[in-house]
Amino acid sequence: MKIGETLKGKIEKLTDKGWGVLNSPAGSINIHYAIEGEEIEFRIKEESKGKLWGEILQVISPSKHRVEVKCPIYNSCGGCNLLHINYKHQLKYKKEILKKNIDSFFNFSEKDINIISSPPFNYRLRAKLKGREDGKIGFIEKGKTSVIKIEECLLYHKRINNFIRKWNESDKMPFIHQVDLFYNLTEEHLYAYLSENPLSNFPYDFFEKTTFSYKGKEEDSISEIKVKDFKYKVSPVSFFQSNIFLLEKMLETVDSYIEQGDTAIDLYSGIGFFIPVLKNKFKKIYAVESNKFSFKLLKENFPDIKAYRIVSSNFSFPPADLILLDPPRSGVDERTMKRIVKKGYKKIIYISCSQRGFSKDSKILSENNYSLKKLSLLDLFPHTPYFETIALFEL
Ligand SMILES: C[S@@+](CC[C@H](N)C(=O)[O-])C[C@H]1O[C@@H](n2cnc3c(N)ncnc32)[C@H](O)[C@@H]1O
Repeated sequence: MKIGETLKGKIEKLTDKGWGVLNSPAGSINIHYAIEGEEIEFRIKEESKGKLWGEILQVISPSKHRVEVKCPIYNSCGGCNLLHINYKHQLKYKKEILKKNIDSFFNFSEKDINIISSPPFNYRLRAKLKGREDGKIGFIEKGKTSVIKIEECLLYHKRINNFIRKWNESDKMPFIHQVDLFYNLTEEHLYAYLSENPLSNFPYDFFEKTTFSYKGKEEDSISEIKVKDFKYKVSPVSFFQSNIFLLEKMLETVDSYIEQGDTAIDLYSGIGFFIPVLKNKFKKIYAVESNKFSFKLLKENFPDIKAYRIVSSNFSFPPADLILLDPPRSGVDERTMKRIVKKGYKKIIYISCSQRGFSKDSKILSENNYSLKKLSLLDLFPHTPYFETIALFEL
């Protein structure tokens, strides 16, 4: 099989990264923007990381789940890769990925997975744009280092898209390496954080209802938002859950998993998103967060809890009725996980945006006699292969 060769074949399945797999006599070939069951004509495009990649030339028998893609940069962006699949089928695909993951370690009925969907467009309240020498902003092109100028992203909140359009229509914008945006839904105001000082001629007044800050002036990026009855200081500089429609659902899901108790630990607390829910049920809260700016906001948001700015593996792990884990995509590191299971916490709430991280840590928990009691799939990221899992494990 040669690069450039044109072939036909049938897509067998979609991987957990959202690309199709087609079996050929020369081995399996990965195909972007495909759907399982489709007959396609394709060209062998490249070999990368030991895998052959094909490019669709024609979909001979389109799946009934295929929909028209309305994004002009779909093939070059790579940020979302399920846009060609109808939303109902995306949810089915995600549920199957989750079910396959937990079946390896736990007995948990599919009908007990609580599925929470999202409006599939304009759901992101945060954005990270890269800058170009000509002053335009956009995304890094898939598999390259160049930046593609964009007009909008179908996933971003409309206020973020208005900002991007305005920036890119103007000829006065300077080169900035990175622009981080946060739409404050409570204030209906946008916060833009620039990776460097744009100097004095930056056209601040050109952007309505937008507050700018830049490196060294992080304080100016702070605002306050309200989710349910809780208020949080937030910033584009620090982590915050990104789906505007599911913020309340995330809090409600965690709340529905917990009972009254004495002590709870929030191990990757960020600015303290889940802390108000924990505070309603527990007398004493410990929070651990390694990022300097998130930790500062955590302390300001919740001055009355015990907060530690350290990496999780260095935490002293006191006795507690519940430990909540919301680690980064890679999951909980080995040393931290060992210390958690050694401590034998009776209840663990595990929140994950990565099925690989979730699967790795589920295996360890199952090997240490934990059982899976509750499981929710919250689709925080429609049109991408990612989703949030909130699980309750008990010893
Ligand atoms: C997925 S975010 C969750 C934050 C928070 N639970 C929320 O919902 O906003 C993970 C957080 O863990 C922090 N973090 C990453 N690695 C860490 C480590 N080894 N120890 C402590 N915190 C860590 C990150 O800075 C980030 O704030």
